[in-house]
Amino acid sequence: MNSYSFPFNRMRRTRAKKFIRNLVKETNLTVNDLIYPIFIVDGTDKKEPIPEMPGLFRYSLDILKKEIKNIVDLDIPAIAIFPYISNSLKNMSGSEALNKNNIICRAIKLIKDTNSELGIICDVALDPYTEHGHDGIIINDYIDNDETVKILCEQALIQAEAGCDIVAPSDMMDGRVKKIRQALENNNYVNTLIMSYTAKYSSSFYGPFRHAIGSINNFRNKEKSTYQMDYSNSKEAVLEAELDVSEGADMMIVKPGLPYLDIISKLNQKFDVPIFAYQVSGEYSMIMTAINNGLLNKSVIIETLTSFKRAGCSGILTYFAPIASKILNEDK
Ligand code: PBG
Repeated sequence: MNSYSFPFNRMRRTRAKKFIRNLVKETNLTVNDLIYPIFIVDGTDKKEPIPEMPGLFRYSLDILKKEIKNIVDLDIPAIAIFPYISNSLKNMSGSEALNKNNIICRAIKLIKDTNSELGIICDVALDPYTEHGHDGIIINDYIDNDETVKILCEQALIQAEAGCDIVAPSDMMDGRVKKIRQALENNNYVNTLIMSYTAKYSSSFYGPFRHAIGSINNFRNKEKSTYQMDYSNSKEAVLEAELDVSEGADMMIVKPGLPYLDIISKLNQKFDVPIFAYQVSGEYSMIMTAINNGLLNKSVIIETLTSFKRAGCSGILTYFAPIASKILNEDK
């Protein structure tokens, strides 16, 4: 017989006052859990609104410098930078990704000069740079795995050389974590972290991001389902995680976020490496639009972010990072 019973157990006792609610809280979200993805664009004095992601902008590097100060003042520990590349610099192989003076490398150096403590994460993938908007190169009408991985290794190396702290392969090619780890070791970047997009699902929630980086109109074939995961699958994420951990990933990302809490929870039970959720552009835009229209209160932001922690995340990549930091600081 169950020894718990009413009225000896009244669940509402630990809910009755704020102090006791705080004491029994199982999950605490702090600013230290947040990574802010930020969009950059060439030029000067640019702060271009991204209509598909209300409240967010693409920054030219001079304006980014000021923005970095704001981010550091909020105590956000790390940012992930994403480039908007003009069509004139895009080609079939995404060669601008390997230009040591591309906007990402220049941004890394500028951010490190502005504040060397702020962690920098860079996507390793070709989609911002390819004419077709895919993450790899196309050979015989197929996103070729092994040839793409060779390019990704070079891309990761130039990011590490520029001073990036964490490379984040988001391409979902097979074996890329292993090859990138070997390339980093061989070139003496032994402390460059790999945060692998381990379980990245082929998702329509990435739509606003593709507008933000200007790849939306480049797609010949809008599907990335020959390399990103099918959202029907869960066991497959475990296998992806086993491979990534054995290939040398320090951390894993599950992406998108909220519709995939079951995957986070499952990986958290099976693996000892830190897991991060990416609350992606579509999730941001949905919530933000509802807040802007008075349909939801902004406290849903903290509620969603806390749910990632509850599911087992060490942290969250979220476009809400600055707003969430302000709310968390106000609540102190
Ligand atoms: C591309 C990449 C994508 C995102 C991060 N890196 C989009 C895609 O795979 O098409 C999505 C982020 C978001 O939607 O916020 N490698």
